[in-house]
Amino acid sequence: MKDVGIGEATGKIILMGEHAVVYGEPAIAFPFNGTKIVATLSESATATNTVTSSYHTGKLADTPDNLANIRALTARLQKEFGASAFHLQIDSTIPAERGMGSSAAVAVAITRAFFDWQDRPLTEEQLLFYVNFSEQIAHGNPSGIDAAATSGSQPIFFLKNKEIIPFPLHLDAYLLVADTGIKGQTRAAVKSVAELYEVDQAFTSNHLQQIGRLTRHAQHAIMSNHPQELGLLMTEAHLRLASLHVSNSELNNYIRLALAEGALGAKLTGGGRGGCFIVLTKSKDDAIRIGRKLKVAGVKDAWLQGLGVYQYA
Ligand code: PMV
Repeated sequence: MKDVGIGEATGKIILMGEHAVVYGEPAIAFPFNGTKIVATLSESATATNTVTSSYHTGKLADTPDNLANIRALTARLQKEFGASAFHLQIDSTIPAERGMGSSAAVAVAITRAFFDWQDRPLTEEQLLFYVNFSEQIAHGNPSGIDAAATSGSQPIFFLKNKEIIPFPLHLDAYLLVADTGIKGQTRAAVKSVAELYEVDQAFTSNHLQQIGRLTRHAQHAIMSNHPQELGLLMTEAHLRLASLHVSNSELNNYIRLALAEGALGAKLTGGGRGGCFIVLTKSKDDAIRIGRKLKVAGVKDAWLQGLGVYQYA
């Protein structure tokens, strides 16, 4: 066993397919290096498990309910390793509850830190098992995409319960990732889609299947480097997500503004009802200009994500 165990994870962006992925449709996601989380574990100075984080500092048992996943995950790991009382430090630049996968990322970082602390090798399969365990508590019915995207280093094509397929992203375009500053509501949004499915299965499954179709087309648009086509597919996906009631007026207004300013496409990302949205642009200048306009309109934060080709130009 080591004195200190360290584990890291990144945020993630779902490019296409959120919500539909829960129903077996494909999704495309990638790790978002603009944000990161580090978990550090060491033996507790007291006989109790303690935590230092932006949410809570003190006894782990006293953490608020939104950290129930962390309590359950660490309890399980501690029991399985027969580990002593620990101190857990969480340092994160991933905004919480904004559709960037912060709950999965914290679980990835903690699981890695635990195995590192115990000086034990960790397989990809074990990592996903623990992260999905934690995500079930955080989200209710996770597809597993957040766990897959925050634990890897490459973009992925994802189908629930199927093999994760990494792929290189070489697209001649830029992605602006913008935070509305409003907390997303993944759990509530996933639940409300399930309820809509109960009430009107034909309507709901039609939208979910169409989102799946758009995602498959997006896969071709990415592989053949057709950003304009990808942009149109993204915007249509947003409209369908809005029809499923997982958008909100702020997201819709920001997305309208980005499109009016010449974006190739824009959509919410992640669970929705707040959180982040993504804007595809032809050039870096467009992305910067649109980012400025969005900030003036009220967006809290914006990051620029390159998509590959320009890096090699
Ligand atoms: O809000 P996030 O970052 O946790 O993304 C959730 C993605 C959903 O498709 C809405 C749910 C899921 O488990 O796939």
